[in-house]
Amino acid sequence: MSFHPQMPYGEGWHKSERFIPEEGPAFAFTPEHRAQLEELCTHYPPERRKSAIISALYMVQAQQGHVTLNAMRHVAEVIGCTTAEVEDVVTYYVMFFTRPVGKYVLQVCRTLSCALNGAEKVTAALCKHLHVQPNETTADGLFTVMEFECLGACDRAPVIMVNNEHWHECQQPEDVPALIEGLRTRGLAALSGCHLVKERT
Ligand code: FES
Repeated sequence: MSFHPQMPYGEGWHKSERFIPEEGPAFAFTPEHRAQLEELCTHYPPERRKSAIISALYMVQAQQGHVTLNAMRHVAEVIGCTTAEVEDVVTYYVMFFTRPVGKYVLQVCRTLSCALNGAEKVTAALCKHLHVQPNETTADGLFTVMEFECLGACDRAPVIMVNNEHWHECQQPEDVPALIEGLRTRGLAALSGCHLVKERT
């Protein structure tokens, strides 16, 4: 399969396809997330609780990896808005996944600087190493490979973003095995020099 440019952006995942996910299992925030969300909402006027939708959706993904319809309903209930308003956010922003993804989501920038510096070959190397196609997840559920638009680090192209948090820069196809094996053995701690936030459990 050719990766570029026949592969539509975010095919099957993001806003380009107004995908309404299956209802999925019942969803409720953990007590910790619910408490965090309520604390966050105190930073906004009561009539502006909708400002916390993005944070709430990050919590959903921290709990179950992707956003289901049941999760959107729960967020709407907690925030005090409609499910449609939550879905508007989910389908607008590319960092929310409406289908299951791996523990590590590897998003390769394919915009100009990265494309000129070999992003397509990096994507191909990732896919070959992991035996997947773009937008697929490895059988062990560890890795999902995606293509992405500009990640804002154009001077250090090509760039791979891991889990929406870690910019792995100046990547070449030969760097792929070490990146993957580092994640397998040491998790996100292997991404030295990146901004480490929180590893999904
Ligand atoms: S073009 Fe890849 S980070 Fe901007």
